[in-house]
Amino acid sequence: MQMIFPSMLFSLLILLFHFQYSSSSFSLYVEKPEDVIVSSPKGTFTAGFYPVGENAYSFAIWFTQKLNNKNNVTVVWMANRDQPVNGKCSTLSLLKNGNLVLTDAGQFIVWSTNTNSSKPLDLFLLDTGNLILKEHNTSSAILWQSFDFPTDTLLPDQSFTGYMKLVSSKSYYNCSSGSYKLVFDNDNLLRLFYDIPQESSVYWPDPLLLDWQDARSTYNSSRIATLNRLGNFSSSDDFSFKTSDYGEELQRRLTLDFDGNVRVYSRKHEQEKWSVSGQFHQQPCQIHGICGPNSTCSYDPRIGRKCLCLPGYSIINNQDWSQGCKPSFQFSCNKKNSSFKFLPHVEFYNYDYGFHKNYTYKQCKHLCLRLCECIAFQFRYVKNKGFYNCYPKMRLLNGRRSTKFKGSLFLRLPKNNVALSHAHDRLVCSRNNGVKQLGRSYINAKENESVKFMLWFASGLGGIEVLCLFLVGWVLFKNRKQSSVDNHGYVLAAATGFRKFSYSELKKATKGFSQEIGRGAGGIVYKGVLSDTRVVAIKRLHDANQGESEFLAEVSIIGRLNHMNLIGMWGYCAEGKHRLLVYEYMKNGTLADNLFTNELDSGKRYNIAIGTAKCLAYLHEECLEWILHCDIKPQNILLDSDYRPKISDFGLSKLLNRDDLDNSNFSRIRGTRGYMAPEWIFNMQITSKVDVYSYGVVLLEIITGKSPTIGIQIKDGEELCHERLVTWVREKRRKGLEVGYWVEQIVDPNLGSNYDVKRMETLANVALDCVAEEKDVRPTMSQVVERLLTHEHMIIDGLLNE
Ligand SMILES: *[C@@H]1O[C@H](CO)[C@@H](O)[C@H](O)[C@H]1NC(C)=O
Ligand SMILES: *[C@@H]1O[C@H](CO)[C@@H](O)[C@H](O)[C@H]1NC(C)=O
Ligand SMILES: *[C@@H]1O[C@H](CO)[C@@H](O)[C@H](O)[C@H]1NC(C)=O
Ligand SMILES: *[C@@H]1O[C@H](CO)[C@@H](O)[C@H](O)[C@H]1NC(C)=O
Ligand SMILES: *[C@@H]1O[C@H](CO)[C@@H](O)[C@H](O)[C@H]1NC(C)=O
Ligand SMILES: *[C@@H]1O[C@H](CO)[C@@H](O)[C@H](O)[C@H]1NC(C)=O
Ligand SMILES: *[C@@H]1O[C@H](CO)[C@@H](O)[C@H](O)[C@H]1NC(C)=O
Ligand SMILES: *[C@@H]1O[C@H](CO)[C@@H](O)[C@H](O)[C@H]1NC(C)=O
Ligand SMILES: *[C@@H]1O[C@H](CO)[C@@H](O)[C@H](O)[C@H]1NC(C)=O
Repeated sequence: MQMIFPSMLFSLLILLFHFQYSSSSFSLYVEKPEDVIVSSPKGTFTAGFYPVGENAYSFAIWFTQKLNNKNNVTVVWMANRDQPVNGKCSTLSLLKNGNLVLTDAGQFIVWSTNTNSSKPLDLFLLDTGNLILKEHNTSSAILWQSFDFPTDTLLPDQSFTGYMKLVSSKSYYNCSSGSYKLVFDNDNLLRLFYDIPQESSVYWPDPLLLDWQDARSTYNSSRIATLNRLGNFSSSDDFSFKTSDYGEELQRRLTLDFDGNVRVYSRKHEQEKWSVSGQFHQQPCQIHGICGPNSTCSYDPRIGRKCLCLPGYSIINNQDWSQGCKPSFQFSCNKKNSSFKFLPHVEFYNYDYGFHKNYTYKQCKHLCLRLCECIAFQFRYVKNKGFYNCYPKMRLLNGRRSTKFKGSLFLRLPKNNVALSHAHDRLVCSRNNGVKQLGRSYINAKENESVKFMLWFASGLGGIEVLCLFLVGWVLFKNRKQSSVDNHGYVLAAATGFRKFSYSELKKATKGFSQEIGRGAGGIVYKGVLSDTRVVAIKRLHDANQGESEFLAEVSIIGRLNHMNLIGMWGYCAEGKHRLLVYEYMKNGTLADNLFTNELDSGKRYNIAIGTAKCLAYLHEECLEWILHCDIKPQNILLDSDYRPKISDFGLSKLLNRDDLDNSNFSRIRGTRGYMAPEWIFNMQITSKVDVYSYGVVLLEIITGKSPTIGIQIKDGEELCHERLVTWVREKRRKGLEVGYWVEQIVDPNLGSNYDVKRMETLANVALDCVAEEKDVRPTMSQVVERLLTHEHMIIDGLLNE
């Protein structure tokens, strides 16, 4: 609808309207899309009726050039964002009394400039994007200009003053006023507010920082801020920043996006996409209101922002996290019926029932129990004072989970509910949620294959953070016609840096597949160096025919996963019979390579145990698809240069829908002897607990330094029987508990006495629980993580002695 007559596009158009005999001297009609005002002299901007919904229009100013000729134009200003007009009989008119009015359906005035003048007036749009109303006399003053009433965007050299505010849009698709505001506060500081009827809070600059810590000045009352053409944003409170492309004359705009962050966008050519060249807030989880009440936000630069309900709570509207979560239990005031769940690194900002200095855990707990409305308490160590502060909570808003936060939350739950873990609510990525499907392309796959997947793209106005965990992938459909592979590669590269390689490229990178570094399921792994000097591990699958399904499974699964402890895949090659995968290179090889050396001290071993558990918990419970690895073993756990673990080799894994729990259709046994759960052998139902079992075995190996089947030498050095490591450790514990110590007997002798006994004991107990024969007795991976971490934090926080 925002079509523009080409002939008018770049022509100079200044509309002059003289005071005549009619009641209005000039009008734009909503029915006529060609009724627009184009800026002069270059035609960079256009003003006119812009469709904001079905049969709903706003009078707006936008960048004339459409993106890719396909997508919509970029709107920079709107007169009536909250009150769109009808698609029939609505007009923008300059009345003879000098008032510019927007009339809805020929009847109601929904917006006006409130100007008056008896002189002839000019209405024109400048190439700066400023719409101006002034008397037809070059030396007279401006009566009204759109630059004085910004919506969510500032253009270069547009002054932002103390009288103005920027208000975010509701969502990517809904331009009406959202909940985030940028204003000069009473103390002359530029601030970002989250502002809804129930809550109003500042989230930028960081409310915990004092003004001087943020290098702001409250003394300059001129309250003015501007972004200049070269990309320097500076404000009278001494806040300033340069964009990453500072110094160039580019098209720029500064927008308060619907997700609450202010970003500067720039582009060289009009046809180019906007790229983010600067932003106010670097920590998206500190933007208030992103995850609604009773939920926490966590952020990983690789997967974006994620919301999670608190344990015992469930999501209210799975299309909109900002509504938060509701308790799935009956709240009881009864002291005896309450207990507290320990959530490390979880912070809820504000809404404290007072602040209690120097409280012990017990005092804080009793304080909370005495208050009926207390639903949790924040407990935080004050380092320079050497004591804890206690913050009972009446409401849980603005929650975030970050290892940088050193305090903890204790959540009040009914006694029988404490074992509850997080409900696995997740957002349905709907179009209404600021999530937009941008590209979907097809590549030519061989017959018999129909591994599907979609490329969802975080549009998010720059795609920096997203409101839900994102799928990055694409669609591989069988029997599709050849399509533009380049385009495909481009779309993915834009999203993840993941791309398709040519065979010759990889052959060159590996110097003709000369340096073998390992053999995994279905293929040999070679070391290589890409043309951009990145060192990679390239896995070449053995058998193209049989390997292809494994290939596609691996590509499809890994391509859409992202976790710190998961091996990163940078690309693949599918050319003729060749099937290759390009992974990041792990300097220290596999866990198996290192277990029997002296490289792994107890700290490294512990971190490997936790990292592996976190990754499995992510695969089982946090990603969109429920994924089993099915072949956890030390050969599949790689170590980076800091000995951080990364799980690799998904060749044998299988994607299951959660609903398919009961009819899992594993056709053949997967896994490796020694690590396989009894379910495989007895042909029973396969669940995520098979990975838990394998993990338990790996954990025992990490602790003991022994392989899962240990030969027991009975007589004359003759090996008589094999005993399972699991049975051996179990037996040691049974006997050891009688004498009061046992861990010392099983720990890898290579460690000497350089380990923490309590810590090892936790590891060993968790491991033994994981290898329980009965699958229902085994903990879930997230419970494992929690047990390992809780122990850790209790030590750090000194809570273990409470
Ligand atoms: C935008 O959001 C507002 C407020 O929630 C709603 O009233 C309006 O209908 C929405 N507009 C569109 C086009 O969805
Ligand atoms: C984008 O453009 C299409 C066609 O021009 C239009 O139907 C749609 O409403 C526009 N979307 C938005 C959000 O303005
Ligand atoms: C126009 O505005 C001036 C001052 O703003 C006011 O004094 C005058 O009465 C107004 N005239 C009309 C016709 O509203
Ligand atoms: C333009 O405005 C100036 C100052 O207000 C005035 O002196 C001059 O006469 C005006 N010219 C016309 C043509 O109205
Ligand atoms: C940006 O503008 C501020 C305020 O005018 C100024 O102090 C600062 O030096 C400028 N920075 C650059 C790189 O021009
Ligand atoms: C206040 O800020 C403005 C704009 O940044 C600047 O021009 C002015 O010199 C400042 N005033 C003082 C007293 O620092
Ligand atoms: C959040 O939890 C509290 C206490 O459990 C409850 O009273 C409140 O209604 C919840 N908030 C929402 C939005 O459901
Ligand atoms: C404790 O709370 C649970 C859940 O609300 C309830 O079923 C149970 O009866 C309560 N027990 C007592 C002793 O109040
Ligand atoms: C904290 O409280 C304890 C016990 O009430 C007291 O002994 C201690 O001095 C207090 N610490 C500080 C720093 O006030």
